[in-house]
Amino acid sequence: MMGFGRRLKVTLFGSSHGPEVGAEIEGIPKGSAIDVARLQEDLDRRRPVGRTLATKRQEEDRLIVDRGLVAGLADGGPLRAHVLNEDVRREPYDRLRNTPRPGHADLPALLRFGAAADLSGGGIFSGRMTVGLVIAGGVARQLLAREGVEVAAFTRAIGTVEAAWSVEEPLATLRASARSNEVGCPDPMAARRMEELIAEARRAGDSVGGLIEGVATGLPVGLGEPFFDSIESVVAHLAFAIPAVKGVEFGDGFRGARMRGSEHNDPFEWEGDRVRSVTNHAGGILGGMATGAPLVVRVAVKPTSSIARPQRTIDLKERTNVEIVVTGRHDPCIVPRAVVVVEAVTAFALADLALAGGFL
Ligand SMILES: Cc1cc2nc3c(=O)[nH]c(=O)nc-3n(C[C@H](O)[C@H](O)[C@H](O)COP(=O)(O)O)c2cc1C
Repeated sequence: MMGFGRRLKVTLFGSSHGPEVGAEIEGIPKGSAIDVARLQEDLDRRRPVGRTLATKRQEEDRLIVDRGLVAGLADGGPLRAHVLNEDVRREPYDRLRNTPRPGHADLPALLRFGAAADLSGGGIFSGRMTVGLVIAGGVARQLLAREGVEVAAFTRAIGTVEAAWSVEEPLATLRASARSNEVGCPDPMAARRMEELIAEARRAGDSVGGLIEGVATGLPVGLGEPFFDSIESVVAHLAFAIPAVKGVEFGDGFRGARMRGSEHNDPFEWEGDRVRSVTNHAGGILGGMATGAPLVVRVAVKPTSSIARPQRTIDLKERTNVEIVVTGRHDPCIVPRAVVVVEAVTAFALADLALAGGFL
């Protein structure tokens, strides 16, 4: 199923080496102002072009809105938008039909879909499908911004290099620092070391993973549904849809397992006529609902599977064990390009929940 959402629904279409990739979004309240130039800015943050540390695939990713907007306002019907695939090289992928890449989706895709499996450029398993997520998340972010909710994401770690920045700092400051480097990290010293680490991994024919942290501020207290549609459930569902994501945690997440209640509980205090959490171990969520503190989600991204070193795999036809060297153009680290995708899915989940709960 390539769709998700209850009140705000997204359906992805296209594939890595097909004619286009994009999204159809249903449920945008009629008359909502959608700034297409801002959607384009989001897409530009996902593009590899101009980055020395990314795939050499060169595409404009110029957003084309097919329907759903009239003079910049949502017309109440589905909004359909796409970008063209302009730099397609199929040859490196033809061989994979027989020798699946370790760590990529080739093996289960071939065994499940057989001749219908499209492996070219990763097909529907490609990171390129996240173009549609970025479009949908960009729309969601604009809906939330009207209600004073801001969503952002930044790089927290690449490999063993961990950055020191805090969600307590204003998002505008974090954003400005993060956009001054290639890895989307607000800590300039760590960013330099991260860039060196990625360059070194690429030179070694290898790859690295890392952590992306999403933040949402200004959430109305109570947003989110108890139980199955808790904020954690919906954000995590979407975050795990991002290719290469292998872990999601909120607030202190897995570290909480080693803490005492006395350390993990966030005390409350009055700030004028508003309730404030003094600390934020819970990541802004209690009982699946927003507490009013910043929502904090961390997403673990695995190292890119397509590496230039020889790897062991199988020949499906000959039924032998063989060695392959993966060719094609690949990101030595997915994290820098996935930052805007984490931002997008967080925004989409929150906008869907906000519409369901009558907050939008
Ligand atoms: C923005 C982005 C770019 C990606 N680029 C690559 C890439 O260049 N090479 C690659 O092998 N995988 C890349 N991936 C990851 C694969 O699509 C993913 O590992 C694969 O579909 C298998 O899915 P899984 O890792 O979630 O199990 C990228 C993912 C994202 C989100």
